[in-house]
Amino acid sequence: MKIDLTGKKAFVAGIGDDQGYGWAIAKALAEAGAEILIGTWTPLVRIFTTAWSTGKFDESRMLSNGKLMEYSKLYALDAAFDKPEDVPQEIRENKRYQEASGYTISEVAAQVAKDHGKIDILVHSLANAPEVKKPLLETSRQGYLAAMSSSSYSFVSLLAHFGPHMSSSGSALSLSYMASEKVIPGYGGGMSSAKAALESDTRVLAWEAGRKWNLRVNVISAGPLRSRAAKAIGFIDSMIEYSHANAPLVKEMTAEEVGQSATFLLSPLASAITGVTLYVDNGMHAMGLAVDSKTLQPKTEG
Ligand SMILES: NC(=O)c1ccc[n+]([C@@H]2O[C@H](COP(=O)([O-])OP(=O)(O)OC[C@H]3O[C@@H](n4cnc5c(N)ncnc54)[C@H](O)[C@@H]3O)[C@@H](O)[C@H]2O)c1
Repeated sequence: MKIDLTGKKAFVAGIGDDQGYGWAIAKALAEAGAEILIGTWTPLVRIFTTAWSTGKFDESRMLSNGKLMEYSKLYALDAAFDKPEDVPQEIRENKRYQEASGYTISEVAAQVAKDHGKIDILVHSLANAPEVKKPLLETSRQGYLAAMSSSSYSFVSLLAHFGPHMSSSGSALSLSYMASEKVIPGYGGGMSSAKAALESDTRVLAWEAGRKWNLRVNVISAGPLRSRAAKAIGFIDSMIEYSHANAPLVKEMTAEEVGQSATFLLSPLASAITGVTLYVDNGMHAMGLAVDSKTLQPKTEG
């Protein structure tokens, strides 16, 4: 049995380079034959398109059939804003936004529908928290709400705006992290709260979008990956090492593995699966004990 997405159109929001989960998901969807549309954070559009056109991503773009992954169109997107009037003056005047237009969620959804008609797959692979390095107790209201806005509500809004332009039996997916349900010190600024909201919203949206548009909505809780966003948090190498030492499967988890699981969830093979949080983390979520903890080592008699 093969996953065949030939003729399906996928909009993947949150690709800024070739290192993150969004890229890996887009590539796996392309391997399965889907047409790829990309949503890139507005300030990164120029850097991304320049890197793409100068061949910087060519190695990562290589598909198993020897061809390079292509995208039909890239849309500048700032998922913190729903409509043009939401964009503050200072952002509008920022030089990395000045040359872009139509980057709010409602505008992008309308433009995608105009350019491509109905799409089949919607992927939300983005998050941002300005105070991510601060413990929750030190996070400001503004920082907390910014994390929720960019990382959780953005998915609600994307689905609300893309839903009417998605084909029946379409599917949506977002990316979460175990910090939604277990304490991960250092994953601060309201990001743990944002991921908890994302997972809860997945269930409610599965119900609402299922009944309204016959769409499926799922979320992958992924293991640690050395992406640009994760490196910015600051302790990603330790998280990868920790997982290696304590997860049931002793291997580094790759972005490709998340891409493949995402492709399954987004494909007709998962036609009865909706409202789930799927762990793609080498089994780390199942552990209640850090087996490499010093306290578990045999005590030497003194
Ligand atoms: N890297 C990990 O260890 C890990 C683990 C579990 C879950 N995740 C989740 O995976 C998803 C993708 O992150 P990643 O780690 O692959 O990093 P990444 O840097 O590749 O992706 C995050 C993307 O979000 C974009 N973004 C930030 N704010 C935005 C906004 N307002 N509008 C549009 N785009 C915006 C960034 O430009 C970036 O391209 C995120 O939801 C992240 O929380 C990551």
